[in-house]
Amino acid sequence: MEHPFSPSADRNKEAIGDALQQYLANASNVFEIGSGTGQHAIYLCDRFKHLQWQPSEQVMHLESLTYVIEEAAVSGIAAPVELDVAVSITEETTGTDEYYSFAFSSNTAHIMAIDEVAAMFQVIQRRLQAKAFFALYGPFKIDGVHTSDGNAEFDANLRSQQPHMGIRDKAEVESLATDCGLELHRDIPMPANNRILLWRATG
Ligand SMILES: C[S@@+](CC[C@H](N)C(=O)[O-])C[C@H]1O[C@@H](n2cnc3c(N)ncnc32)[C@H](O)[C@@H]1O
Repeated sequence: MEHPFSPSADRNKEAIGDALQQYLANASNVFEIGSGTGQHAIYLCDRFKHLQWQPSEQVMHLESLTYVIEEAAVSGIAAPVELDVAVSITEETTGTDEYYSFAFSSNTAHIMAIDEVAAMFQVIQRRLQAKAFFALYGPFKIDGVHTSDGNAEFDANLRSQQPHMGIRDKAEVESLATDCGLELHRDIPMPANNRILLWRATG
C-alpha cells in the first residue's frame, strides 16, 4: 500500500506539540477526529509517551490510516475507529464508548461542511470528561477577516472546489462550541497563520 503523507502535518506537528505541551503532559487518553495520515498521532505519542491515543477517520481513509499506524508501531496508539461526524448524529454513534481527557482535531473545520463542524462539537461533548480540553488546529478568520492573503487565497480555492468547504470564522466556531458546553480557554497563534483554539468542557 502507498504510504500516505501530508507535508503540512509534517511541518506543523512539532509546533503543535510545543503549544500543547502542558496540556498533553497532563492528559492520559486522547480522542482525535479526522486523523488523516496519522502523522499527529504518531508524532505526539512518540513525544508524550504516556498517552493513549484513539485516532478516527471516515470509512474511505480508514484502511490507509490503519496501515500507517500499524507500520509506525508507536506504543499508545489504538487501532483507528470509523467516525464520520455527520453520520454520528443520525446514528448516535461516536466510534468509541470511552471518555477522554483530551480531544484533538487538525485542519478539519474548513474541510467539513458547517453542519459537520457542529456535529464534531457534539461528538466532542459526548466523549470528553468534565473539565477536559479540545484543541482544534487550523486557519480561522477573525471578525470575518482573513489573517493573511495566503489564507484568503486558500479559502477561495476551497470554495471553488466544494461550496460547503471554507475557512471558518472564530466567532462562528465559538458559538457552536458554546452550544456544546465548551468554553474557549485559549486562542494560540501558530506558524503560517494558523491557530489552535483550545476549549474546556464546562460540565
Ligand atoms: C485536510 S485533512 C486533515 C487530516 C489531518 N488531521 C491533518 O491535519 O493532516 C481533513 C480531514 O477531515 C476529515 N473529515 C472530513 N469530513 C469529515 C467528517 N464528516 N467526519 C470525520 N472526518 C471528516 C477527512 O477525512 C480528512 O482526513
